[in-house]
Amino acid sequence: MNKGLHTDIHRRELTALLKSSALINSSLHTNDVLNFAMKAAEEFMEAEASSVFELDPEKGDISVRLARGEKGVFMKSKRLQPGEGIAGWVIQHGKPMNVVDVQKDARFSDRFDKETGFTTRSLICVPLTIRGRIIGALQVLNKKDGNSFTEEDTELLNALAQQIAVALDNARLYQRLQENFELTEQELKITQRKLLRSERSAAIANLVQGVAHEVRNPIMSIGGFAMRMKADLVEGSRMQKYLDIILSETSRLEKLVRDVKEIAEMQTVHLEPTDVKDLLARVIEGFSSDMARKAVRLKADIGEDLPIINLDQEQISRALRNIIQNSIEALHEGGTLKLAARKLDSTVQIVVEDSGVGIDEEKLDSVLDPFVTSKTTGAGLGLTMVYQIVTNHRGEIDIKSSGGKGTIVSLELPTGLEPEMEE
Ligand SMILES: Nc1ncnc2c1ncn2[C@@H]1O[C@H](COP(=O)(O)OP(=O)(O)O)[C@@H](O)[C@H]1O
Ligand SMILES: [Mg+2]
Repeated sequence: MNKGLHTDIHRRELTALLKSSALINSSLHTNDVLNFAMKAAEEFMEAEASSVFELDPEKGDISVRLARGEKGVFMKSKRLQPGEGIAGWVIQHGKPMNVVDVQKDARFSDRFDKETGFTTRSLICVPLTIRGRIIGALQVLNKKDGNSFTEEDTELLNALAQQIAVALDNARLYQRLQENFELTEQELKITQRKLLRSERSAAIANLVQGVAHEVRNPIMSIGGFAMRMKADLVEGSRMQKYLDIILSETSRLEKLVRDVKEIAEMQTVHLEPTDVKDLLARVIEGFSSDMARKAVRLKADIGEDLPIINLDQEQISRALRNIIQNSIEALHEGGTLKLAARKLDSTVQIVVEDSGVGIDEEKLDSVLDPFVTSKTTGAGLGLTMVYQIVTNHRGEIDIKSSGGKGTIVSLELPTGLEPEMEE
């Protein structure tokens, strides 16, 4: 057969195929495109195998994007150090290489051969460039029948490399686009959840405050009259017991109303420069006897570089006390309480983590609401107050728990609060 003609037809076919941008540019199917182009290159150049390497622009190392051939599968996710092997050299220097006998070229590394069981004899490796930037390399290996690759092979592989570079670049762009999109979508969901939370909290707070206001006076009168009745009772009356129950229940309700009122009044902050580390130390100190009683092991991890930030010290201490109180109540004898604080980009994060009973998944969403409690003596207002305080500081609260495996409460308080922001 006329080799020249054969080559010519093939070349035209190949070029036409590669120019069909519909195929090359559909970055959705980069691997298909690569596979197709590599297969064409192998056939045309009569090579036994081929591979595409991709340069990691940040780390500078090189990974195998796709490898075809008998041992191609074993090449998956293999990496080259910058400058390693022929591909490393080509990527570093931006020049194609046609190696007739790899054994005679010191730049050749037989590491992959050893790892995969392949035997490389000859190869052509060309750089993949996009807008003058090297993004990887394309390589065909072992001319069939023991022949050498020609200069024409190198030239053609170079042409092919341009198309492959475009496909790879598109794939990268597409991936970045998708990552950004996913991020935005996730952010949107979080914002939506926060918005719902704050709307719901505002609605509930309104209702609760209204009710509290209405029942306040009746409760006080019931308590007052019960007290008078008790004073008038004759010694040993059975009424004594009932009146005591009425009195203790009314005083419980009075306290509830007071607490609700207190939360409602906590809507403004008095900001002052605060050393978070000191504040945490004072708060935790207040729990020393509670913790000793339950043999709680305390692990503190307070960042050394915590900035001084503007806070309402009274409120933040209160919030932390409520959170830590819950943790201690949830802990078993000898459990662990972790307290951590660190500086993030624009916030200080305070994390209280316990190894206690945890919160059931379906309850997690409502624990910030008033009167949600699992305790016989609890009012269920502790976290409602925490939420109010954190919101006052334009901060954020996040509660995580996997039922039975403890709870993590994280507060983030902005470092940039200024006293003139007080409402
Ligand atoms: N660290 C925690 N571990 C387990 N459950 C918790 C924890 N913190 C809060 N909870 C749950 O959230 C509920 C609400 O807490 P809170 O608002 O402080 O009210 P209270 O402590 O009065 O019940 C608690 O009753 C408990 O069920
Ligand atoms: Mg509580």
